Amino acid sequence: MSSAIDSVLTETRVFGPFDRVAATANISGMDAYRALCEEAEADLDGFWGRLAREHLVWDKPFTRVLNDSDAPFYRWFDDGELNVSANCLDRHLGTPTANKTAIIFEADDGQVTRITYKELYERVCQFANGIKSLGYKKGDRAIIYLPMSIEVVVAMQACARLGITHSVVFGGFSSKSLHERCVDVGATLVITADEQKRGGRNIPLKSAVDEALSQAGTEGVRHVIVYRRSGSSVEWKDGRDIWMHELVEGQGTDCEPVPVNAEHPLFILYTSGSTGKPKGVQHSSGGYLLSALLTMLWTFDVKDDDIFWCTADVGWVTGHTYIVYGPLAAGVTQIMFEGVPTYPTAARFWEMIERHQCTIFYTAPTAIRSLIKAAESNDEYHPKKFDLTSLRIIGSVGEPINPEAWMWYFTHVGRERCPVLDTWWQTETGVHILTPLPGVTPLKPGSCTLPLPGIEAAIIDENGQELPPGTGGFLVIKKPWPAMIRTIWGDPERFKKSYFPPEAKGYYLAGDGAQRDADGYFWIMGRIDDVLNVSGHRLGTMEVESAMVAHPLVAEAAVVGRQDATTGEAVVAFVVLKRPVPTGEEAQQLARELRDWVGKEIGPIAKPREIRFGENLPKTRSGKIMRRLLRVVALNEEITQDVSTLENPAILDQLSQAY
Ligand code: WT7
Repeated sequence: MSSAIDSVLTETRVFGPFDRVAATANISGMDAYRALCEEAEADLDGFWGRLAREHLVWDKPFTRVLNDSDAPFYRWFDDGELNVSANCLDRHLGTPTANKTAIIFEADDGQVTRITYKELYERVCQFANGIKSLGYKKGDRAIIYLPMSIEVVVAMQACARLGITHSVVFGGFSSKSLHERCVDVGATLVITADEQKRGGRNIPLKSAVDEALSQAGTEGVRHVIVYRRSGSSVEWKDGRDIWMHELVEGQGTDCEPVPVNAEHPLFILYTSGSTGKPKGVQHSSGGYLLSALLTMLWTFDVKDDDIFWCTADVGWVTGHTYIVYGPLAAGVTQIMFEGVPTYPTAARFWEMIERHQCTIFYTAPTAIRSLIKAAESNDEYHPKKFDLTSLRIIGSVGEPINPEAWMWYFTHVGRERCPVLDTWWQTETGVHILTPLPGVTPLKPGSCTLPLPGIEAAIIDENGQELPPGTGGFLVIKKPWPAMIRTIWGDPERFKKSYFPPEAKGYYLAGDGAQRDADGYFWIMGRIDDVLNVSGHRLGTMEVESAMVAHPLVAEAAVVGRQDATTGEAVVAFVVLKRPVPTGEEAQQLARELRDWVGKEIGPIAKPREIRFGENLPKTRSGKIMRRLLRVVALNEEITQDVSTLENPAILDQLSQAY
């Protein structure tokens, strides 16, 4: 377990709740919150069953809530049928929401496009009719490799409408990662764009798809649908490739939604684990959508006139739940942004909040920290220069937010009048799990506070014993919840091993270290496994290591995370070459080459910040690489730990000096 877990809690500041927000909050205060928690504690089935009936539209009502007969493969509402897209779009037709703006899309270059719920419904139906005409149907799997756009929402919703399981691959991943995912899900359809535009640059997507599909194992892909974003020329494979705009031409604007079982896989999303290749996290339709919608109402406290903005990319779970599914099911107006927070300047977020009168803003600590740096170096980029009074709630997700960044966000963006919601969750949890609620929870900077109603969380030690407040341990969730991961696609054994190991005594093991304070608040201390968090992106050290050793010159590599003031963690790689240890210019040249190599193997986010060469790695006599020592070396700190089990202690000096 990481040493960070033993750190002592020193934060004593408490803020809120805020009357202005509490007065209208959907969960009106601590009593209302406790009542919901108690309802769930007293009767878990009754609680979720009631909410699922109240908030979702069912084609075939369920009679059973939780089916735990095959635990930990829990099933929810599993004799019920519904359609997710109908629950996001059709439900608003014939209501005032139909003519309300669903998405305010702001392009990289600032151009703004608005689309109403009715128009979005029609676009989704047209596209669904298009893919149906190509022969795709319920049970098929589609890979989606698209930029932030109205089109990606259309594509995902159209898949959901037909019962096609989608797997979105983040546009920043390489063709190699794309290929792996195409093979693993057994995709028959790929939806992409010619290029994406970010920060004033065009980045090719279609060519990466071409490359991925030229590799073995993708023969099942029959079509590649291409959204024309930039208009740049792309290679074309006749019979396989189709322009999105040509496919939808003349298609009807209604398309019957296909009812699916509540357990039908809505999507598979890959995320890094501590070992092996990324895991395909499989999510359900009914339970997932229920919780996506409920957290919009509970956590974000959405109202009819809200302008919601989640800055995440749709390639991550945050974009799935809080752009594509939650906001639409809730019928809220949302902002969607194609670009990056620093283009054309680091004031882009603040300008956009002002321009679109954003009321709920949800972003990542890494973005906040980089904008703090920018604001401190140039006053023009400081949020105080902008009218941010439209904001009511501001949120954070993806990694621990340090108290300094929290305070800056609270003071300068929220102007001390908006609650900061530090939402803890994961790809696997589907939705928020531990989070403050706007009208309920007194806030402590750096704490994700309390579990949502229906969630029972605890801290355990390595024997599964529950730990008292003030003691660091493993974060677990004691009871199943509707939006939880169902399995790892194609690998149920790995699912059990990763999340329900015997030590966890039947609880869901999150993979994070945490502790509670005397008020029961949760403080997340970081991952307990070999998973790094770089700019809010999850990265397995093993993944980076296997990418590195795939390089012909590399004999061995070990990767660790180093704390970084902006990105949270940075990747530091220790490399043994199949040739003598390089120095000077040669070392720099090789480091550059290896960085680019990793960029091609995984994606630019995985590129090591620093590479150090040595003639060996610190190993135990049994040959195990001692990463905990490498973590110290990466920090350029003196090693005070016991090194007596090391086979080759001298190597530590060499690696320290290689800096
Ligand atoms: C891991 C999950 C949740 C969607 C985006 C990331 C870390 C996430 C917080 C938070 C401290 C956090 C955890 C978690 N994490 N949110 N509020 N405070 N840590 O999803 O890629 O599946 O990563 O991100 O370590 O396990 P993900």
